[in-house]
Amino acid sequence: MDPGIDDAAAIAVALNNPGLDVRLITTVAGNVSVDKTTTNALKLVDFFNKQIPVAKGASAPLKKKFEDAAAIHGETGLPGYDFPEPKSVVSKLPATEAIAHELNQSKQQLTLIATGAYTNIAHFILKYPELLSKIDELILMGGSISGGNVSSVAEFNVFTDPDAAKIVFESGLNITMIGLDVTLKALISKQSSDKLAELGEAGKMLHGIINAYGDVHEGGKPMHDVITILYALHPEVIKLQNEYIEVATEGPAIGATVADILHRWHDKGTYNAQVGIDIDAVFFNNWFLKQVRLMNME
Ligand code: BDR
Ligand code: CA
Repeated sequence: MDPGIDDAAAIAVALNNPGLDVRLITTVAGNVSVDKTTTNALKLVDFFNKQIPVAKGASAPLKKKFEDAAAIHGETGLPGYDFPEPKSVVSKLPATEAIAHELNQSKQQLTLIATGAYTNIAHFILKYPELLSKIDELILMGGSISGGNVSSVAEFNVFTDPDAAKIVFESGLNITMIGLDVTLKALISKQSSDKLAELGEAGKMLHGIINAYGDVHEGGKPMHDVITILYALHPEVIKLQNEYIEVATEGPAIGATVADILHRWHDKGTYNAQVGIDIDAVFFNNWFLKQVRLMNME
């Protein structure tokens, strides 16, 4: 992940919902530099008093020049709340090795959730193909089959490292793509974000950072990355459609996730991802506020 305001909200929910057992956070260059996303992840695990390893990942995409999203997430990537400097320190293992280590150690399959560019995951796929069978599902925030947010066709996480996204979509992993098709349908309303201020210190923190978030749409602000966590906990609330996704890695469509909807290139029934296409925004807002009430500050 690349915290990042909506990544921070995703971390907040994931660390505090008893239905999830977070084993590892890895960071990547995305919204801001990897040094900053790593510091932000450490600040968040400290804020919630959790001992979750944070492993630092790639500082640049595989091939493309790195471009941040500080215009949306602020220079630090986590504006709007005064976090103390982190006491926790980054893991000794770098992200790719840390992912391999967790999978090797686990008796069960684990779920991977990506809410930043997929650079670390691509490195992992190339280096540890024998461990892919230990991943039951890869839930990705990113992509879109209905228009982009950084160009007319590309979404930011895929656009940041399209070559990594191509490796990921061609990996054979069981992929669920939570892209703009669904995240832009579940905005957090002004009414909901105002309520956060009354929900303890965690609510105040989230209220502060969401207020400072530059991703403004009519009707509210998208909590893109949080929808991956909602899906992990309640897959039934997101309508999915099987699609064969190919990633454009050059030209004006660079970063586009093209779904073969008309089966021009792949047989009907052949797909490499299930793509989120619909969600109930009212359910999302109520669920999110409920998650914030769960966040205890012990
Ligand atoms: C994605 O891009 C980032 O800016 C957000 O954190 C999210 O992961 C949305 O396109
Ligand atoms: Ca993100």
